[in-house]
Amino acid sequence: MSGTAKIDLSRYASQWRMRNGLDVIVRPICPEDEPLMVKFHQTLSDRTVYFRYFSSLSLRSRVAHERLARICFVDQEREFVLVAEHQDAQSGDRKILAVGRLNKLENGQEAEIAILVADEVQKRGLGREILRRLIQIARDERLVRVYGELIRDNFAIQKLLREFGFRCRLLKDPGFIRATLDLFQNRF
Ligand SMILES: CC(C)(COP(=O)(O)OP(=O)(O)OC[C@H]1O[C@@H](n2cnc3c(N)ncnc32)[C@H](O)[C@@H]1OP(=O)(O)O)[C@@H](O)C(=O)NCCC(=O)NCCS
Repeated sequence: MSGTAKIDLSRYASQWRMRNGLDVIVRPICPEDEPLMVKFHQTLSDRTVYFRYFSSLSLRSRVAHERLARICFVDQEREFVLVAEHQDAQSGDRKILAVGRLNKLENGQEAEIAILVADEVQKRGLGREILRRLIQIARDERLVRVYGELIRDNFAIQKLLREFGFRCRLLKDPGFIRATLDLFQNRF
């Protein structure tokens, strides 16, 4: 955003239906989400955690108040975070089923992208929808480039990112890949 006025994030909130018919609201994260984020992290498998954080980051550290408070209280100058929330029609219970983030670099023109979908709803199109929305936010923000760093064996995210035009290349450590999407060519 390069020091300009804050964007109205509420325009990124809307309902979306998963392939299995489950409705979610995809919306910007807010400070009140912390307890829902704790529950979300409690559901994640070791594999999912490893693919997102490249290590077996413990549940305890993932749900630490200092960490979650920082994640839920977004500094728009530096980051955008979307969550997908489902509300059970009968009980009214709300759950977070996915989180996607754009972390802007200091140059204000590039951002790192990361997505985390709960195991119970993976492969139902939610990751694709969150990614689509994050790319839209990056375009609206006139970011030049978004990129993600991925574990080489994470074929799901590679397939998904390639679908959106990301180019993948091996990093120096051949266990990792950097996937890059150029959005606006001539801004540097
Ligand atoms: C990777 C991830 C974000 C994908 O989200 P998802 O909701 O499961 O994926 P979607 O249902 O939107 O799938 C979109 C496409 O990705 C590909 N894909 C998804 N899961 C796949 C799998 N297990 N194997 C191969 N391809 C897969 C497919 O091309 C799929 O399209 P299709 O279903 O129309 O064939 C999700 O699985 C996840 O959170 N994984 C753990 C954390 C992670 O790896 N994050 C990415 C690094 S930051």
